[in-house]
Amino acid sequence: MPPELHKEYPRDDEGRETARLLDVTLRTLEARYLCGPQLRDTHAKGLAVVSAELIVPANLPEHLRVGLFAQPATYAGVIRFSNTDPTPHHDRVADMRAMSIKLTGVPGPRVWGDDGQGTLDLLLMSAKSFMTPTLAEFIDLQDCLRRTTTEPVLGAVRLVAFFLRHPSTARRVMRSQIPCANLLELPYFSETPYRFGDRTVQFRAIPRKAPTSRVPGPDAPPNYLNGRLRDDLATQDAWFDLQVHFQTDPVRMPIEDSSVEWSDALSFPQTVATLRIPAQPVARPGPHTIGEDLSFNPWRTLPDHRPLGWVNRVRQSIYADIARFRASRRGTDSAAQAMGGHGRPGTER
Ligand code: HEM
Repeated sequence: MPPELHKEYPRDDEGRETARLLDVTLRTLEARYLCGPQLRDTHAKGLAVVSAELIVPANLPEHLRVGLFAQPATYAGVIRFSNTDPTPHHDRVADMRAMSIKLTGVPGPRVWGDDGQGTLDLLLMSAKSFMTPTLAEFIDLQDCLRRTTTEPVLGAVRLVAFFLRHPSTARRVMRSQIPCANLLELPYFSETPYRFGDRTVQFRAIPRKAPTSRVPGPDAPPNYLNGRLRDDLATQDAWFDLQVHFQTDPVRMPIEDSSVEWSDALSFPQTVATLRIPAQPVARPGPHTIGEDLSFNPWRTLPDHRPLGWVNRVRQSIYADIARFRASRRGTDSAAQAMGGHGRPGTER
């Protein structure tokens, strides 16, 4: 039977497989951070945390007035920018970049993680689609990656064998690893689908800044992405258009396979709000300035934007468990962190 629009198709073994993924992830974290600070499983290198606001305009057409976008409003928030690799490295290294948005004061119940302050999270990445089509393949990949930390040579051989077995995943992973000249010049994507009332969308944030920056040479400072953000935001605001991309074809825009890129030819993304990053002093990277006290979860959202598909279903418990684990290893208040924290960007320079 062909899939239907807006419909999820969970597999019977998903709960068991999710528990297996959590086990692999925790074992990877334990193997990777034997001593020193406990960073995130992925997105370990925070590049900056900046204050931001989401502006929902008064003149949105009726069909876009849903959930977060139902009323004209301005919501205050913060954005954590990060590189995706589990190991922090020089910003010149090809990687995926991420924009994690945390808004406050958004009225209404949350699907998960209601903190009574109207917090809503939206997680976006520089790649348009997710790496693997299935959970089983994702766990296999994570397990190969974990083994590279315990048995570097054998682990590398297993990883190559994995990519030979899954050439499409290998191609997607390679395509997603991009050099980045400036965080304010990249588009960011949710990669996975969300409800939009009774319809289904993917989100994206498109920069208004023209891509004029160039990737610097090898002698550039290792944290140049933070430096460029500091320079740009020293004098001017930055703007992104937040857009929704409607699912109009259940096969070519699937819910259960986020490795399939939704084509703009099937439905053209529409702007629902503006993300403004006001001019501000941006803190240099440091333990208290890169968002270690923050945690994000795509399920901390309104029922009108409930996350869909296996990738999102798996993320619901994994993010909370890993954030709690990370907090407990750092000796911070795990409960507060698992609920999301409310860190404000530092201003030391
Ligand atoms: C099954 C698939 C996935 C798993 C298991 C997973 C797992 C994780 C974990 C464990 C963290 C760290 C959480 C913490 O310590 O607070 C994380 C962070 C993150 N993930 Fe995923 N992820 C998945 C898919 C995705 C997808 C599809 C996106 C697309 C937008 C994404 C975007 C992010 C971002 C932006 C962060 C950083 C959040 C921050 O700034 O703290 N992830 N992920």
